[in-house]
Amino acid sequence: MILFNEQNKVFTIHTANSTYQMKVSQHGHLLHLYYGKRIVDEDVSYLIPNVVRSHESNPAEAGVDRVYSLCAYPQEFSGNDAGDYRIPSIEVVNADGSYAFVGKYRSHKIYSGKYRLSSLPTLYASNEENAETLEMILKDEVTHAEVKLLYGVFYEKDIITRAAVFCNHSEGDIHLERLMSANVDFMTGDFDMIGFFGHHYLERQTDRRHLSHGINEIGSFRGVSGHFHNPFAILCDRNTNEDTGNAYGFALMYSGNFVFDAEVDGYSQTRIAMGIHPKQFDFLVRKGECFEAPEVVMAYSDKGLSKLSHSYHDVFRQNACESRFVRSERPVLINSWEPFGFSFDSEQLIKTAEISKELGVDMFVLDDGWFGARDNAKAGLGDWVANEKKLPGGIPALAEKIHSMGMKFGLWFEPEMINEDSDLYRAHPDWCLRVPGRDPARSRHQLCLDLSRPDVCEYLIEAVNKILDDGSVDYVKWDYNRYVCDVYSSYYPPERQGEIYHRYILGLYRIMDGIIKTHPDILFEGCSGGGGRFDGGMLVYFPQIWCSDNTDAPDRLTIQYGTSFMYPVSTMGAHVSVCPNKRTKRTVSFKTRAVTAMHGTFGYELDPAKMSEEERKECAEYSAFYRKHQKLIMSGDYYRLSSPYDDSIFTAWQFVSKDGTESLVCVVTEDILINDKNSYVCLRGLEENAFYRIEETGQVLSGAALTNIGLLLPHSQPQYSAFVFYLTRIEATVVSR
Ligand code: DGJ
Repeated sequence: MILFNEQNKVFTIHTANSTYQMKVSQHGHLLHLYYGKRIVDEDVSYLIPNVVRSHESNPAEAGVDRVYSLCAYPQEFSGNDAGDYRIPSIEVVNADGSYAFVGKYRSHKIYSGKYRLSSLPTLYASNEENAETLEMILKDEVTHAEVKLLYGVFYEKDIITRAAVFCNHSEGDIHLERLMSANVDFMTGDFDMIGFFGHHYLERQTDRRHLSHGINEIGSFRGVSGHFHNPFAILCDRNTNEDTGNAYGFALMYSGNFVFDAEVDGYSQTRIAMGIHPKQFDFLVRKGECFEAPEVVMAYSDKGLSKLSHSYHDVFRQNACESRFVRSERPVLINSWEPFGFSFDSEQLIKTAEISKELGVDMFVLDDGWFGARDNAKAGLGDWVANEKKLPGGIPALAEKIHSMGMKFGLWFEPEMINEDSDLYRAHPDWCLRVPGRDPARSRHQLCLDLSRPDVCEYLIEAVNKILDDGSVDYVKWDYNRYVCDVYSSYYPPERQGEIYHRYILGLYRIMDGIIKTHPDILFEGCSGGGGRFDGGMLVYFPQIWCSDNTDAPDRLTIQYGTSFMYPVSTMGAHVSVCPNKRTKRTVSFKTRAVTAMHGTFGYELDPAKMSEEERKECAEYSAFYRKHQKLIMSGDYYRLSSPYDDSIFTAWQFVSKDGTESLVCVVTEDILINDKNSYVCLRGLEENAFYRIEETGQVLSGAALTNIGLLLPHSQPQYSAFVFYLTRIEATVVSR
């Protein structure tokens, strides 16, 4: 609900449980007043104290008023070089060489439905949804350049989206050196910030810290969102936990360089700014042109972190990706990478598929190594033509064999990369990013194609579609295995080189539009050396993303736990692999690996020919178990019952169906349960006065007991044991006690 009070010039945005308020000041600046728990429709500008902040600047239009200061007042979009010394929302170099931009309210529009951006992915709202948009124009009165602030409101989900568009209506060209997508100024609060850091093999580890004075920053300057920091952060009260306390989330719908800043100033006010990383960003916006900054998805919860996660899970499940696969069952897959790497032949693949079929697998996925001269990581990238020595008859012949078994067939691509030992490179050595006169850095022996070039994008769309267009492929794993550097495009003049990082991402979205959106019957899974590009932008294209190359179950507990704060389980690729685990050398039971992999889109990365009879039996059982509960896992409310980081003896999570009739509880013990204290797992999301039947134990227990006392875990269990409990609600009156 978006309200505008003409008299006070106050904008109030309500969602079911939150309120966001702004006000146009007497001098035309747009002040931020409030973001938090829902309040009534009143102007809360009394929050701004009538106090002279000595030494701060006062804009000329304030005259002798020493109270009015852009730095002491909370801003909705902070200008530059005009007396707000905190992190700016914008930095420009105007045609006359000046750096100033001061946006003043000019006009606004409120309409039903959700805005979209023309160059970047955004959330969308269905027609039935109660979504609204506020567009507000802020204008610099000297240059006439404008910023359009966009607000999208998903009322029931407690989600407000933000984006900003800079339009150069000045008389000359303007260099845009920074444009934040969102700025939120909190006048009060003593916050913790939760970020998700990591690296290849250990993505999205949870990091909670108290915000200290100064700038607390996370970001990526690797050309992609990356493994190191996820473009998502939470601000919360110091005592906020899963169930209580204020929590604010900020997720960027962008897959390239990003920054999230939380600046606590000398008055202990906190400013949040999120957007494209300004490093090496210099976009020339010519007279009459506009530039779009990516969308930020904000959520607020007054009831702790679980509720915040539920808002994100719901919106990412329902409003990000328009693929029909988002709502359909996902196939249980087997992937060739871990068992075979680059060395395989058709016969071996077909045999693998045949055995897998017996194990309840729906789809065989051929990973890296099927094209060009790709016998190792040094050659072939760029040559998207099947290697007939490995695969006589190419992809159609192999796909046909797999299809004839009643299975689906999936294929791996890494479209954005090139090996120097490839026909593509020999034909187009200028198609990769490279600084003139410098030998570029290689990573995994590969270079990045220059996706800022339209001709490269068109080539890729054509080359990949040539394989996909004949209908042989049911699933594509889209990989990306290095970070970007040597960022220079021979296609653009020297003064436009500061645009290349962003133009790469625009090119990426362009090729994904041309490949993914033109193949609605193919399920696409994102991947980047595991989970190195797991972000909101990608989720607009991919219903699922490979979470990590680390398939060791205990490590996965922390990876999946961190990922769950913002991204729904339905988006996380998770597979069972062999033990000892290839990376960590750890051995855990098949059950533990399977239960952990059911925290996502389930599959296998192993050679079934090497499995024992016993393992094959287990495998078939878990494929069937997953299929039986997939709907609940994919669409239920998700609860973190314990953290893999705390002292608890186990890590547990739970799914509760939206209608409350069923629930699945998964537990992995992290210690040995031998003659030690009793361990109880307290459940959540249940009705306290309803009764639940627990399939595995035959017990019938009340929601109150399960919530407040918990399920007793069996004693005498080795470390890394796994348990599942499937609960169905029964009517309280039916049970005689
Ligand atoms: C990295 C991915 O994360 C792996 O699953 C696999 O696809 C390899 N790339 C193939 O090169």
